[in-house]
Amino acid sequence: MSNQQDLGFEEPQTNDGPVECLGMTFESDDARRGHFLGLLREKLQDPEFRKTPGFPNGSDDAILRMSDPPYYTACPNPFLEDFVRVYGKGYDPSERYEREPFAVDVSVGKTDQLYKAHGYHTKVPHLAIVPSVLHYTRPGDVVLDGFCGSGMTGLAAQWCGTAPASYRQWVDAEWKASGHVKPEWGGRRVILNDLGPAASFIASGYNLPFDVSRFEREAQRVLGELEDELGWMYECVHTDGKTKGRINFTVWSEVFSCPQCAGEVNFLEEALDEDTKKTRSEFPCPHCGVELNKDRLERSFETRLDPITGEAWKRIELRAVRINYNVGATTHERPITDADRAVLDRIDGLPYPAEVPRAAFPIADMYHGSRLEPKGFSRAHHLFLPRAAHALAALWRKAHAIGDPGTRRMVVWFVEQAIWGMSVLARYAPTHYSQVNQYLNGVYYVGSQIVDVSPWYILYDEAKRTSKLPRLVKSFTPMPAIPGSAMVQTGDCASIPIPSKSIDYIFTDPPFGENIYYADLNFLVEAWHGVMTATANEAIVDQAKKKGVHEYQELMRRCFEEYHRVLKPGRWMTVVFSNSSNGIWRAIQEAMGTAGFVVADVRTLDKKQGSYRQVTSSAVKQDLVISAYKPTEALTHRFELGHSTAEGAWAFVKEHLGNVPIFVGRASEGDVVAERTAQMLLDRMTAFHVQRRLSVPLSGPEFLQGLAQRFPERDGMYFLPDQVADYDRKRTSISELRQLSLFVNDEASAIQWVRQQLHDKPQTFQDLTPQYMREVQAWAKHEETVELKTILEQSFLHYDGRGPVPSQIHRYLSTNYKDLRNLAKDDPRLVEKARDRWYVPDPSKQAEREVIREKSLLREFEEYKTSKQRKLKVFRTEAVRAGFKACWQERAYDTIIKVAEKLPEAVLQEDEKLLMYYDNALTRLGDD
Ligand SMILES: C[S@@+](CC[C@H](N)C(=O)[O-])C[C@H]1O[C@@H](n2cnc3c(N)ncnc32)[C@H](O)[C@@H]1O
Repeated sequence: MSNQQDLGFEEPQTNDGPVECLGMTFESDDARRGHFLGLLREKLQDPEFRKTPGFPNGSDDAILRMSDPPYYTACPNPFLEDFVRVYGKGYDPSERYEREPFAVDVSVGKTDQLYKAHGYHTKVPHLAIVPSVLHYTRPGDVVLDGFCGSGMTGLAAQWCGTAPASYRQWVDAEWKASGHVKPEWGGRRVILNDLGPAASFIASGYNLPFDVSRFEREAQRVLGELEDELGWMYECVHTDGKTKGRINFTVWSEVFSCPQCAGEVNFLEEALDEDTKKTRSEFPCPHCGVELNKDRLERSFETRLDPITGEAWKRIELRAVRINYNVGATTHERPITDADRAVLDRIDGLPYPAEVPRAAFPIADMYHGSRLEPKGFSRAHHLFLPRAAHALAALWRKAHAIGDPGTRRMVVWFVEQAIWGMSVLARYAPTHYSQVNQYLNGVYYVGSQIVDVSPWYILYDEAKRTSKLPRLVKSFTPMPAIPGSAMVQTGDCASIPIPSKSIDYIFTDPPFGENIYYADLNFLVEAWHGVMTATANEAIVDQAKKKGVHEYQELMRRCFEEYHRVLKPGRWMTVVFSNSSNGIWRAIQEAMGTAGFVVADVRTLDKKQGSYRQVTSSAVKQDLVISAYKPTEALTHRFELGHSTAEGAWAFVKEHLGNVPIFVGRASEGDVVAERTAQMLLDRMTAFHVQRRLSVPLSGPEFLQGLAQRFPERDGMYFLPDQVADYDRKRTSISELRQLSLFVNDEASAIQWVRQQLHDKPQTFQDLTPQYMREVQAWAKHEETVELKTILEQSFLHYDGRGPVPSQIHRYLSTNYKDLRNLAKDDPRLVEKARDRWYVPDPSKQAEREVIREKSLLREFEEYKTSKQRKLKVFRTEAVRAGFKACWQERAYDTIIKVAEKLPEAVLQEDEKLLMYYDNALTRLGDD
């Protein structure tokens, strides 16, 4: 396919004719694959290649078996560079590119069948990503996701070219209604990377085209052959004693012993209430009658011969108790009989299948290791009961024996989805209609009631059109992937082998701290493939792997640096942040900033309102969408020599204002855009310098004054001159401008809150006090109490009735009181009403206030510096921030570190400003 072609829907390439790939023509797709497999095989011989960061652990054969080069490699992909060279559009600084940040609803599309075609531990649906890709890119652009998981970003990029007309019309209409320019439909190219081979393999299945009808035929053939070969293992006799039935699932129970009489207690038989189908929390011992519960029971172990290692294997005792089966279309359930047991015993005596992996779980390095080992599950094969092991092994063998490689890859993709569901991790859930995939998400947990499902029950029940295979076929028809437009690799996001400045847009959903242990969880499936995640660089917080927040931040910084290297200047990255701790949120922001990105917008979806809210408070309890950009080259050049200047700082502010939304809101309501407020701009300008390890060329007061001189202000927000008209127009169409919602828990937020109150309505101390008292009830424990009086005196102005009434008060009074309209500013009636009110100073006066306030904060910081206390328990965070800033300017990095170490760890980790100075001081001290 040529670069010029619109990446619209095409028939998948077949083996019958010539194919183009990376600028070369091959006589068939097999020839293409053969050529690149040869190259990959050769490359794998190179010891240096195997040293690439993130290179998975697996033999050459296993890696080659999983791969479909050049499009997918189960290791770092040596062909990515060619892909970018052949299909990418080189960076052209003269190309005009302007976009505003764009927020997405990450929960859209969770019921879509294509999204559900293959599970992963967490997923962002492709339909939630499509609008972002449409917004930031044009057809043929190259999109990157370095933490791709199941590859939904790739699917979204391709969906822009393959979406059905009805979807396109719907998006076109939605965008038109919201005033957004019409999207440019057409596929985008995509590069996907994940550290986990299990993840990249799923991504390859979603993103490389295949012949759907051939896949369906082969999958059916494999399952049919399995029936012929192993069908007897799932046969049973109906209660009439003669009719044959087909087992859907067998329920197994853990066997315990009674602490009182040491008698055997079959958990399910005693605890399951047949009427409610729930397990009782209390039940009597069948032998001595003593009241039992799960905590009181004593675990029983059985020692068997490990079928692979041949060693003694001690495991919790499990016993089959009942079966669920079908006779024709009718489903029955009954207790297990001796005849059923005889079949299980016969299976037990068969030679153990070679395909079942024996890999030992890295128990000591696994967060959930302590859940597995004490019950006797320390190797991959331990998680499969003998019949499931035989069935899965046969499926695996048959899938891998399929002649056509593309079909083979997809049938393996289909079969691997039964691994967890056919293991002992699947719990019997009697209250659920279906027993398919009843394992606990995100953990290795073997329960006391296990469901051992048949391969047909989980994968393909001919009687049910709703079962897995027909659903898959339906979801992939028409084919959502475009030949040659996706490249998938397995490796570290911090090391993606593509040229600098080659990517047009990044959409990414990195792991967030310690929510999910991806490498651990991928271990089981990867063991079947024989290619396992190299965990050293996994970005995660995991005590078992000795990775704390600091290590996580470092790993993420390296990944973001790589993103920054490969992204074209002036282009965007969307990062979705899933609900996690504030500490992790700070770490992500700091990692992004230090890597060179500038955050322009952080939003969350307000599900009730159906609109996006900006996120300004530190309490992050929702899923966030972060839009960040890579500064343009013109701006970056200014800082290349390591100097910072006032002009450079203003150039940054100008570029930043150009990238921040002009207006946020919908219908009749607008929001104050947090990024446009003076405080936020000051923070961004400061961070921009500190994160580049430069001194900050403007003091707070200088900045405030300069801002007002350079940029027009509206409603407390600053704009570029050419943005103002647009804002004014939109402003007149709304009836209300919503202030930022604030959570007042410290001095900084208290000042912001007072500013909001006084901005709209200058008030007296007496008026403000009761409201203030209500707001400050959640004051942070470590934060020194700051009286309203101090806040007012240090940051605001007071009118004592002398001289003309200040314009801020005059404006408020004349708008709100009919009888005070059109009066001179020294009219006694106006003066009387205005007396004793506090108001927000204009920018130049505010700068004066700031000078005084900064002095007082620094005096306080001096006390902390010299304090003999080992740890500061209660302090004024604003004073520490001001002190750190001053120390940064004076290059007193060791003072920053000393004082930081006196602060409570949690405070430091959760305060983005303090953390920024501390982290960068540590690095500077190391550099100097
Ligand atoms: C939140 S998941 C992504 C899920 C994805 N959005 C989806 O829809 O399937 C994060 C992924 O990052 C991967 N990961 C962790 N550390 C990594 C690293 N250093 N480089 C690349 N991938 C990494 C994990 O294996 C995991 O698959």
